[in-house]
Amino acid sequence: MSPAENNSHSCIKNPVPGIPRHVAVIMDGNGRWAKNRGQSRIKGHRKGAESVHRIIRLCGDHGVEHLTLFAFSSENWKRPPREVKLLMELFISVLEKDIDALVENGVRLRIMGDLDRFGKRIGRLIKKAEMRTTCNDCMQLTIAANYGGRWDITQACQQLAEKARSGEIKPDEINEELLARHLVTAGIPDPDLFIRTGGEKRISNYLIWQLAYTELFFTDVLWPDFSKDDFAEALSWFASRERRFGKTSEQLKENKARKAGHA
Ligand code: IPE
Ligand code: IPE
Ligand code: MG
Repeated sequence: MSPAENNSHSCIKNPVPGIPRHVAVIMDGNGRWAKNRGQSRIKGHRKGAESVHRIIRLCGDHGVEHLTLFAFSSENWKRPPREVKLLMELFISVLEKDIDALVENGVRLRIMGDLDRFGKRIGRLIKKAEMRTTCNDCMQLTIAANYGGRWDITQACQQLAEKARSGEIKPDEINEELLARHLVTAGIPDPDLFIRTGGEKRISNYLIWQLAYTELFFTDVLWPDFSKDDFAEALSWFASRERRFGKTSEQLKENKARKAGHA
């Protein structure tokens, strides 16, 4: 197995005011992009891979700490076998060919989801790719593959039930924080900004626990067309949001004024 590699990169390490620490994306619209051009759906997925490279670079440039991309949902197995096969080939090619660029740019890669279904070859490639980038600390890229939010909550419950059965924890010790630590996203802050391209206004079983207080940005732009300007628009929309987390606007203003007074 390849050892971890870490080039010396210059990157933004601290949270940047007004910039989301964690951006989570549903990259939707590849099929329609291709159909609009009379091309096969897989052409859309290939073109979509270019937008993946673009958003990784843009997030790094802006100081986003975590980028989580939905590449393949638990439900996407229901697609025609040919499309599933081609998507798997694309996934393998990303794992084999795109890791050098991640290493060069200080990006740590993690794949999350129910990975057993992918088989041994992809399993080995995932481990190798993750290992090569494990020391990188400019940004973490998490790819959700065979991922479903309900699956994630269910597997967390199974772990907790097992711990309760063995006496490691008491059932009444289970709280939100403990459950969150058993999700596959444990250790990653909840997304601040969610982006869905392709016009649909739904979550499609993505990060359903973690998106509880996330700002949701929907755009009609199809994923292969999602440009630097579109990302800038999402960021500027995010910066204009007042995140109240249940409080009132007045309380937030008072807190801000108090903090400014102490500074
Ligand atoms: C998203 O694009 C990519 C995956 C689900 C893998 P789609 O393939 O869903 O594109 P549309 O929604 O059919 O246009
Ligand atoms: C969500 O897109 C999954 C991914 C982008 C990987 P879909 O295109 O599968 O979502 P639905 O089926 O339209 O909700
Ligand atoms: Mg779709």
